Amino acid sequence: MEIIKELVPESERKPVIEDCLKVKFGHVFTDHMFVQEYKDGKWQNGVIKKVDNLSLHPGALVLHYGQEIFEGAKCFKTASGKFAMFRIKDNIARMNRSAAKLEMPQMDPEYAERAIKELIKVDERHIPTQEGCSLYIRPFMIATEPGLGVRPSSNFIFCVLLCPVGAYYPEGFKPAKIYSTDKYSRSAPRGTGDIKCGGNYAASLAGGEEAHKHGCSQMLWLDSRTHKYVEEVGSMNVFFVKEGTVYTAPLAGTILPGITRASVITLCKDNDIPVKEEALEIDELCKDIEAGRVTEIFGSGTAASICPVSELVYKEGRYVVSEGKIGPVTQKMYDLIIGIQRGNVEDKYGWLTYLD
Ligand code: COI
Repeated sequence: MEIIKELVPESERKPVIEDCLKVKFGHVFTDHMFVQEYKDGKWQNGVIKKVDNLSLHPGALVLHYGQEIFEGAKCFKTASGKFAMFRIKDNIARMNRSAAKLEMPQMDPEYAERAIKELIKVDERHIPTQEGCSLYIRPFMIATEPGLGVRPSSNFIFCVLLCPVGAYYPEGFKPAKIYSTDKYSRSAPRGTGDIKCGGNYAASLAGGEEAHKHGCSQMLWLDSRTHKYVEEVGSMNVFFVKEGTVYTAPLAGTILPGITRASVITLCKDNDIPVKEEALEIDELCKDIEAGRVTEIFGSGTAASICPVSELVYKEGRYVVSEGKIGPVTQKMYDLIIGIQRGNVEDKYGWLTYLD
């Protein structure tokens, strides 16, 4: 399969963003996108072309029944001056797992990686070089066949967008307050919580708004069966440091297998920090924070990287963690992940894919 290029004339290309830290996350796009159609039972040649509206029939299945999946990845300028994507193969593999669960077609991983690489190379000048900034990669797939019967679409579009970004949360690498309640759930056993589909995020919005009403930036999601166990935070995986051991909920079907989550687990193991994939009970967690046994909480995700947590609001209580400061494990994970991504820490796991 080929990659066709219909490039924007140089004179019509957008100016490069001077200060990505001032740009709202995902609000500025580069000049080009990659678009590939799936029809007649197979993927067609993809095209790199100007970022523009997609033309969809109003009956397209994605608009009615949400047959949609996406990924989030990042490309960085490394210390050597070369550009590299972080764990992109893992993103593509996860996208294929998401596709399988929503009756969408599999992609050829090598072609998808080549397409993303080619797209970034075309828009290379938009890769931020600024500290704390990167090029966010957003691959997604939508069902385009028109029809109002509930069934899998026969036609799809795979598209990749690029955005120069700074921090995901406007506060950057600063401690966030989080809120928890049994009023909402993010995902149910054997549902779609372990894949990356838009519907999961739409279903999280009301809970997120409730967290905001309580003065918190994110919702700490509890399991939907018992509402006892902590699963994720906002759109991230969540970690707790309890008596020197790092805990995160196991991948038992309701948790997104986060790529940053996997990286944190590997980095803990390699740095002699005990780590356990075990779910913590919210009531115990509150007691443990109060008693000083839980000393750190942090979220992990591609967009936000590592997000420290300073306070948990639950029922009538406000539980302040680590006196509201960033703890040593949180800081270490942040430094190691950012260090590897930017080529300042040795990439001994082969997580970087260079553009050339
Ligand atoms: C990411 O961390 O890349 C995500 O996909 C979360 C998000 C919805 C921005």
